[in-house]
Amino acid sequence: MDAYAADIEKVLVSAEEIQAKLAQMGEQITKDYTGKSLLLVGVLKGAFVVMADLSRQIGLPLEFDFMAVSSYGAATKTSGVVRILKDLDHDLKDRDVLIVEDIIDSGLTLKYLLKSLAGRKPASLEVAALLRKKGIQQVELDLRYVGFDIPNEFVVGYGLDFAERYRNLPYVGTLKPQAYEGL
Ligand code: IMP
Ligand code: MG
Repeated sequence: MDAYAADIEKVLVSAEEIQAKLAQMGEQITKDYTGKSLLLVGVLKGAFVVMADLSRQIGLPLEFDFMAVSSYGAATKTSGVVRILKDLDHDLKDRDVLIVEDIIDSGLTLKYLLKSLAGRKPASLEVAALLRKKGIQQVELDLRYVGFDIPNEFVVGYGLDFAERYRNLPYVGTLKPQAYEGL
């Protein structure tokens, strides 16, 4: 963690704020799905951290699955092109499915996923996202659970990377300009 500290400009959401929010979100999900079992679908790679912490705040039988899609490379702008790199192992038919996302930026990735997964006839399909960027939301999305609305800046930490680094930071923050230049 210390290895990254010098690269961080400011902390936008602290580790404590994240954990408190996930506890709340988990409690709400537990209530909303009482008596059901849930299939959590994580969007790799960024969602693996929120998936691990959120799932442990949900008091229901859970199954896990992961999907990998391409959106960002090392670049910090969305391409609008979404490609499935790894599909789900589970059949979604008649399942209660909750997509877990790290961040909604343009919403293009999620829009594509929702459309694709809805076609597999789940009993229900909802989204839990830790972060949502304010401002340039390009598509209208119905997000059931949202942790924090943040400014439209590029952020790292808590699963989010720049060039595959910083995912293991326990908080969400912005990078100093020189951190981009070093890579
Ligand atoms: P969208 O399709 O524009 O909503 O972007 C979706 C994906 O881009 C997210 O799931 C992240 O993996 C990545 N992404 C978007 N904004 C950021 C950011 O600020 N930092 C790191 N990754 C991001
Ligand atoms: Mg992602």
